[in-house]
Amino acid sequence: LKGYQAVNEPLLEYRPGSKESKELEETLKRYEGTVFDIPIVIGDEEIRTKDVKAQVRPFDHQKKVATFYYATPDLLKKAVDTSLKARRDWERRPQEERSQIFLKAADLLANKYRMDLMAATMLGQAKNIQQAEIDAAAELVDFLRFNVQFAGKVTEYQPISPDNTVTNSMIYRGVEGFWAAVCPFNFTAIGGHLPMAPALMGNVALWKPSDTAVLSNYVAFKAYREAGLPPGVINFLPADGPVFGDTLLTSPDLCGINFTGSVKTFKRLWRQVAENLDNYKVYPRIIGECGGKNMHFVHKSGDAETVINGTILSTFEYNGQKCSACSRAYIPQSMWPQVKDGLLAALKEVKTGSPLDRENLVTAVIDDKAFARIKGYLDMAKSDPALTILAGGTCDDSKGYFVQPTIIETKDPSHKMMQEEIFGPVLTVYVYPDDQFEQTAKLANETSPFALTGAIFVQEQTARMKLCETFHEAAGNFYINDKSTGSIVGQQPFGGARMSGTNDKAGGPHYLTKFISQQSVKERH
Ligand code: ALA
Repeated sequence: LKGYQAVNEPLLEYRPGSKESKELEETLKRYEGTVFDIPIVIGDEEIRTKDVKAQVRPFDHQKKVATFYYATPDLLKKAVDTSLKARRDWERRPQEERSQIFLKAADLLANKYRMDLMAATMLGQAKNIQQAEIDAAAELVDFLRFNVQFAGKVTEYQPISPDNTVTNSMIYRGVEGFWAAVCPFNFTAIGGHLPMAPALMGNVALWKPSDTAVLSNYVAFKAYREAGLPPGVINFLPADGPVFGDTLLTSPDLCGINFTGSVKTFKRLWRQVAENLDNYKVYPRIIGECGGKNMHFVHKSGDAETVINGTILSTFEYNGQKCSACSRAYIPQSMWPQVKDGLLAALKEVKTGSPLDRENLVTAVIDDKAFARIKGYLDMAKSDPALTILAGGTCDDSKGYFVQPTIIETKDPSHKMMQEEIFGPVLTVYVYPDDQFEQTAKLANETSPFALTGAIFVQEQTARMKLCETFHEAAGNFYINDKSTGSIVGQQPFGGARMSGTNDKAGGPHYLTKFISQQSVKERH
């Protein structure tokens, strides 16, 4: 689409009594009174297997939001065949046509299905109104629109032809084979994006939604189909993770994996690809977005209020389950009394509970496994002499998977609380002597294997330059005097380095180059 310029979808505020607030209330009521039955979709066919699963409300785990079905290995193979058939026509279509379909899908999601996405994300993934709005309503729509703009850019280049005896050209097509899109629970937008980006560029994708985000992902899938996406270009395949991996990664037609999730799973997929390397028709492309141990590093010239507000939001919004969430902070001794008082006072205002109540910043973590993992860290913190729990530290899963927002101080900057991803509402703080600022920054850079997001808080210019230099490889998304969460498509392309991922930057133009196969043609006349 020549000349198409995307703009970010404006956020709705849902003021009490507003039109959107009423619409959302009605949709929530409908969703609360329904257990959706979500089929596997292969081509045009809706399929239900005997392996029935349930998605529940994380904040009220006895209540189901949906039932769905795991695809068997045979169905996964059938999905591969179906997608390869769909590919023949799809990859030959003009880019403009594919782009038009996804622009239409963006409009459907921003308007007709916005409240469905909101309700599915709030009930199924326990996001409060604001978090659901920035994710499911805005970020997903932004991914679609900005990718359409970028698609024009990455297929624009044509080489020079030195004289009229020769014509040189570039042909851009999708990659031969199918993509496996393995999606996380924590962003509806990422679920919708991982299969969409390859499809936009003429590829076909097998979409494995997270078990805990099936409902919201299905809303997006339906919108893609309604917008005109031909059957089979994206197949919707809830499945057991290892079954999905073992079946699809051994297929000779796998051409890529678009993944967001844990490091453990990503490494497993990568190893499986390596083991199968002799069987593929093309070298599979691997894109991965994994964990983080994101820091807020404060210099003594940093503004305390900015540090306090930013750290509370980054650590606790969506319960620390954003891959970008802050989970370790480095504070200079001279600022600690003020920052500590500020954090503890702010934390008193942070309410925990149902995402349906707009007062609650912290809701329930996603499932029993997440709850057990986070609880394990909190239990350890209670008995470890190197750690002091300053606030929180308790949890309760009797009704929902609730973990109280927690702040811990450590005397040991290399403690595992400063290294390992907890993926919950837990902040660990290390207080450093002001005169050891440079050593502490160096240590912070080396402490964790991850490099997803990071923020520095500093006003003094020399210190700012030093920190930027020390941390230039420590965070794929780096913030100066702002919190580490909240990247916006088209504004801060997102992706981590080191063990956080392949750093391909979703929401930026270069990401799409992964999904094109380029043929360079020279014709002599
Ligand atoms: N856009 C999300 C964030 O930066 C991933 O928090």
